[in-house]
Amino acid sequence: MDSFEHNRESWNELTTLHADSDFYDINSFKQGKSSLNHIEIEELGDIKGKRLLHLQCHFGMDSLSLARQGAEVTGVDISDTSIQKAKELANELEIPARFLRSNIYDVENVLDETFDIVYTSYGAINWLDDLDKWAKIIKRYLKPGGIMYMVEFHPFIYTIDDNLEISDSYFKSQALETVVESSYTDKSEVSNKNLKHIEWHHSLSEVLNSLVKSGLGIEFLNEFPYQVYNCFPNLIEYGKGKWVFNKYGDKIPYMYSIKAKKPENYNL
Ligand SMILES: C[S@@+](CC[C@H](N)C(=O)[O-])C[C@H]1O[C@@H](n2cnc3c(N)ncnc32)[C@H](O)[C@@H]1O
Repeated sequence: MDSFEHNRESWNELTTLHADSDFYDINSFKQGKSSLNHIEIEELGDIKGKRLLHLQCHFGMDSLSLARQGAEVTGVDISDTSIQKAKELANELEIPARFLRSNIYDVENVLDETFDIVYTSYGAINWLDDLDKWAKIIKRYLKPGGIMYMVEFHPFIYTIDDNLEISDSYFKSQALETVVESSYTDKSEVSNKNLKHIEWHHSLSEVLNSLVKSGLGIEFLNEFPYQVYNCFPNLIEYGKGKWVFNKYGDKIPYMYSIKAKKPENYNL
């Protein structure tokens, strides 16, 4: 089995746990609460009427929250269970959105259109080994003048271990393989004990340079001194929805966001 098949299998199992978890709080979402955070809402701005492609959409809560803000959303994810659950949610809540199951790297087999916005968020690019290939796919799916927006966990936090020491290299180049025992949501244990996750941590320069190389123009790069999710060990909440490591507080970066644009005259 290749890395992506391992990840597909493990995400299938995790999705089932996530959809029932307090962390994802699907009931509040069903009652109308947005699953988006203030950062992406503010930085994306008005998305009414925009055609938006959500890469690695998981089981669709963020995609459907974007659709509730007026975007015409297509979500893509490698996990069968995620896409099935996303379709069920869209049907149940009668929110128009389209969901496609595909590895991001194979998405051209199932999608041949362009979009105003390509969007990806929190815990996505660490499942991709080749960011140059990823950035080319983003550019392929943007109309001239279209924007890509991403908000992600800062690669620096992956250097910190469970004892809050900086023990891992920031400049990792190799795949990291872990046995999946539980989910980051509420530590629920997975039933299949043979699941593996294979991920790749990318430095900020690697992310940025892949976008620049693809021909997109960087509009901004922002870094944040807190985390919006309590999804890493040993975080404490120091303000509403702002999580930090006790030892480092707001002295280190926890998240970053990037907006990039495909030039208006790209096809000229
Ligand atoms: C942590 S979740 C992303 C959550 C995201 N912030 C959201 O809820 O919208 C990571 C997602 O990436 C998906 N994924 C992992 N590798 C992928 C790949 N190669 N192609 C497409 N999706 C992938 C997983 O199935 C999972 O749903």
